[in-house]
Amino acid sequence: MDDRRWSDVDAYVTQALGLDDAELDRALMAAQQAQLPPIAVTAPQGKLLQLIARIHGSRRILELGTLGGYSTIFLARALPADGQLVSLELRADCAQTARASIQAAGLADRVQVRVGPALESLQALEAEGVEPFDLVFIDADKPSTPQYFEHALRLSRPGAVIIADNVVRGGELGDPDTADPGARGMRRFHELLAAEPRVDATTIQTVGAKGYDGFTIALIGG
Ligand code: SAH
Ligand code: DHB
Ligand code: MG
Repeated sequence: MDDRRWSDVDAYVTQALGLDDAELDRALMAAQQAQLPPIAVTAPQGKLLQLIARIHGSRRILELGTLGGYSTIFLARALPADGQLVSLELRADCAQTARASIQAAGLADRVQVRVGPALESLQALEAEGVEPFDLVFIDADKPSTPQYFEHALRLSRPGAVIIADNVVRGGELGDPDTADPGARGMRRFHELLAAEPRVDATTIQTVGAKGYDGFTIALIGG
């Protein structure tokens, strides 16, 4: 499902509001040159993540799924100078490209990219007893989102925000019989959200340059 106007409006908003800049464009070009898939958030979505982090006053951010570091740069720019962002990425080539772009954006001092399956990195973070996170952005392999959410809960402080990307999947989320493993994972994720008394959440459908999709935002109570 797609509509030319969705992309045109994203392009207009990005230009009219000045949502991208040389470092963000450079990160996208580096990802393209490294032949990474073109699945980063759009600039309007990246700016939304950044605004949520700023509104929330997030000082410690956890990201699952770095790709070329595009969403990472938006989020890291919301951090204070002593803030930290940890981003988990399966692929060494993605992590390498992302690190270079993060460095070029002047954010290397507050961003750490960890390579490996996110489930293993999450377990390692728990074992290390890291300081809890204020904001978690889940954007890795979609079928694993329910497990990532459970780890994110354990690694979050009361008052933390958890955002998950790509939850609507062209509308597959609404089909109880969907065979799409990603959509099935996202339905399970919604069941977990509903069953968790500490969590208040909603899901918003979106259209744009990446088609018809959506995101979930959850607030973790005390
Ligand atoms: N957040 C990025 C896009 C991430 S795309 C942005 O918007 O700019 C999803 C990423 O998740 C890909 O880079 C992919 O390699 C990574 N990924 C897939 N499976 C993973 C896993 N098991 N653990 C960690 N990362 C994984
Ligand atoms: C895919 C991953 C994403 O994070 C996204 O925003 C769109 C697509 C994917 O794995 O296909
Ligand atoms: Mg995504």
